Amino acid sequence: MSLRIHFSVNGTHKELLVESGETLLEMLRGRLGLTGVKRGCSVGECGACTVLVDGLNVDSCIYLAAWADGREIRTLEGLADGDDLNPVQQAFVDHGAVQCGFCTPGLVMTATAMAEKGIKLTRDEVRRELSGHLCRCTGYQNIMTAVEAVLED
Ligand code: FES
Ligand code: FES
Repeated sequence: MSLRIHFSVNGTHKELLVESGETLLEMLRGRLGLTGVKRGCSVGECGACTVLVDGLNVDSCIYLAAWADGREIRTLEGLADGDDLNPVQQAFVDHGAVQCGFCTPGLVMTATAMAEKGIKLTRDEVRRELSGHLCRCTGYQNIMTAVEAVLED
């Protein structure tokens, strides 16, 4: 069954016909060409596909495209303002937290959601917030440092 949905992605209004079983990941990557949304595990375990839906980080591989109806979607492509990176992206660069490039977009999206809440978190709380992201190179230390730097600003 097809459904017509209306939503915004990175500030632009869109209208699309989506299949009832189509995921948000498939719609964003496959149909809108937003390849900053990465496909890792496809089962909600790795965090590579994380996008923001109405400001909340979600795994787009287990979120139906139909659920995006009426919502505001943001992906990595919508964060920078031209050549100006958003504060989280800049912190990842400054602290050497950009590693394989596959996990980084999802981590940046979750960290952006955290930063936009404007709440200071302890190291354990930051760790818990990022626990949905798997990094096989195990370079978590620089990622933690980058996120903490943003939250402290
Ligand atoms: S691809 Fe979605 S959580 Fe891994
Ligand atoms: S940043 Fe991707 S495996 Fe570590």
